[in-house]
Amino acid sequence: MKVNPSEIPYPEVYQLMVGAIAPRPIAFASTISADGVVNLSPYSFFNGFSVKPPILVFSPTRRGRDNTQKDTINNIEEVKEVVISVVNYDIVEQMSLSSTEYDSSIDEFIKSGLTPVNSELVKPPRVKESPVSFECKVREVIALGETGGAGNLVICEVLMIHVNDEVLDANGKIDPFKIDLVGRSGGNWYSRANGHALFEIDKPTRHLGIGVDSLPDSIRNSDVLTGNNLGKLGGLSKMPSVDDVKNHQDSEEIQAILSNNFPLTLEPFHKLAKKQLEIKTELAMMTLLVGDKLLDLQFN
Ligand SMILES: Cc1cc2nc3c(=O)[nH]c(=O)nc-3n(C[C@H](O)[C@H](O)[C@H](O)COP(=O)(O)O)c2cc1C
Repeated sequence: MKVNPSEIPYPEVYQLMVGAIAPRPIAFASTISADGVVNLSPYSFFNGFSVKPPILVFSPTRRGRDNTQKDTINNIEEVKEVVISVVNYDIVEQMSLSSTEYDSSIDEFIKSGLTPVNSELVKPPRVKESPVSFECKVREVIALGETGGAGNLVICEVLMIHVNDEVLDANGKIDPFKIDLVGRSGGNWYSRANGHALFEIDKPTRHLGIGVDSLPDSIRNSDVLTGNNLGKLGGLSKMPSVDDVKNHQDSEEIQAILSNNFPLTLEPFHKLAKKQLEIKTELAMMTLLVGDKLLDLQFN
């Protein structure tokens, strides 16, 4: 399927965007009108865009129904401040409830049963139950259009960050398992960043990875190895030395392959390397290179 967004109704563009750009973090935004009426609404067109200065941006869109602006934007026009609280699993249902279109005179803290806590530097309160809240001043609102569905980029500068100590690890960093954040996908779908959904990838920031293009063809074109496997191998900073590969040939696992497979094929080496990639990438690379070398010897 291929779509030109200017040729289809905007709700369909929306469905494609929210289905594909997912999971999205959720900004639980509290604002206040000039008369002191508090508003609390979730926005998943949201992210952080700068650290120094610390800038968060979220986007309330114009209502498709009647092209009106949401209370959040109307409040921000009156009081240029917002508190953005993050949404974790414990408050996801209350967050969802708060997104219903209550009249602008209604405070969604009361409707959702969440607890407002006075902020230190801005007027809107933060959500007590949220593990992290950012007190912000609104630097600028950029309207992206004038019809229903048009976003308004609310550019927020963070003045104060509140973190519940219970989500910190022993080093004072936010523990992803403890914070238990949720993300918004398309339709009614959400995801929970916890348990098996969380995994680590070592950042190859200190060295340049050799790149998938540096791997021998037999590895790049393997029927056993996946794109993720190749990505890990390409992240190594150098190829193992000839001596290391030679020594690895004597290891028990390689000898087991040699005693059971004649004539030799690459498959058992690639299968072993795939398992080793879970533990140590260098080891997997040596296994692949031993396989390559022995196959070469067999045929040449
Ligand atoms: C998880 C979630 C994410 C949402 N994200 C957005 C968004 O990014 N932009 C938007 O305009 N509305 C979004 N909405 C809908 C608004 O929260 C909803 O229109 C809300 O009633 C606006 O409140 P207000 O008029 O009180 O400001 C989202 C709703 C939910 C439940």
